[in-house]
Amino acid sequence: MPIKVAIPRETAEGERRVAISADVINRLSKLGIETFIESGAGKAANIADSAYKGANLFESMQSANPDADIIWCVQAPTEEEIDNIKEGSILIGTLLPYKYPERVKKLQARNITSFSMEFVPRISRAQSMDVLSSQASIAGYKAAIMGADLLGRFFPMLTTAAGTVRPSKVIVIGVGVAGLQAIATAKRLGAVVEAYDVRPETKQQIESLAAKAIQLDISATGEGGYARELSVAEKQQQQDELASYVSKANVLITTAAVPGRPAPKIVPNSTVEMMQAGSVIIDLAAESGGNTDLTQSGKTINHQGVIIHGPLNVASQVPEHASEMYAKNLFNFTAPMVDEAGELAIDFKDEVIAGALLTHNGEVKNTAVSDFIDTLTDQDTDQDQKGEN
Ligand code: NAI
Repeated sequence: MPIKVAIPRETAEGERRVAISADVINRLSKLGIETFIESGAGKAANIADSAYKGANLFESMQSANPDADIIWCVQAPTEEEIDNIKEGSILIGTLLPYKYPERVKKLQARNITSFSMEFVPRISRAQSMDVLSSQASIAGYKAAIMGADLLGRFFPMLTTAAGTVRPSKVIVIGVGVAGLQAIATAKRLGAVVEAYDVRPETKQQIESLAAKAIQLDISATGEGGYARELSVAEKQQQQDELASYVSKANVLITTAAVPGRPAPKIVPNSTVEMMQAGSVIIDLAAESGGNTDLTQSGKTINHQGVIIHGPLNVASQVPEHASEMYAKNLFNFTAPMVDEAGELAIDFKDEVIAGALLTHNGEVKNTAVSDFIDTLTDQDTDQDQKGEN
């Protein structure tokens, strides 16, 4: 019997991505894997069922469950949806266990082997599986477009019969995957771009995109190449030194994050109030609390003439390419689990597999998640946690 992979339609509010693409169906088929897709799964990404050539369509997980060995998803299925997944099967997606501990318990109870793609270790070998990077680069691109859209000015310098227009200045704070793509996109649109990150190694990356690196006297490279959290004194120094740069920006794009912590507050209200009326802040850190105190998750506000936009699930706003890249990440993660005979052969000792493993054999295998769940009272887990991810 060939291995079956099923892709249900995403049901989370506002989610437009789908965990499959036409190209990946082909790749699965070359491995001898059969693909089953819920009818309408690509609709929100403007992909018709007919585009999924070579795949089997099914009506719904409830009424026509394909009894798949592996389920691919973008967001974690709800508890009711987990009930429709065959016991003992494999679930792979961005499962956000800290946000949805109750769903983790359900996966555990149903003996489902689940992998949380955001836990894939960020080592060279796993780059092709890195959903954080693929989706962050989309968010960075879209942040620059959002900034250009909300700004009442051109990005590029224009010389026209009606006179010469000066280019806009874009400042990007936080130069990880999203920040780099925001810089590249704002440059392509013709803006003058400056960027800042606490990790000194980003200077070279910023300059390689022909943008200017803002340098402050603070360095905060932490574990695994990520930033560490700044001390109170360092935060104050950073805010003071950044104010003179930020106040001159027409568009400020913030993406600063510290793994496992709320987003650092980098831009105080006093700095926002120094910006010109009509300036725009796109706060990509809105999902984890925002890089300004004024950011409201999922909302666009106007503070003394400055527009502050705090978008959520930005990758979902470029759903076609986001789905394509995401599906490729899932394929690259899943393919090594299949042996030459087309059978499942999962090496649970492999660093990448072990890193992403969430539940298996009726246990929560990720120690940090398991400890977190143990600390929650029954009352806490009655509802999925808000704000944590
Ligand atoms: P992220 O989304 O965790 O954070 C975004 C950026 O915010 C980071 O560059 C961080 O240094 C910066 N930041 C944090 N606190 C800040 C503060 N107070 N002020 C200014 N900036 C601040 O980062 P992302 O995009 O996930 O990448 C982080 C690191 O991981 C990078 O070193 C990147 O090169 C590395 N990475 C490695 C990969 C691999 O080897 N597979 C794949 C992707 C990223």
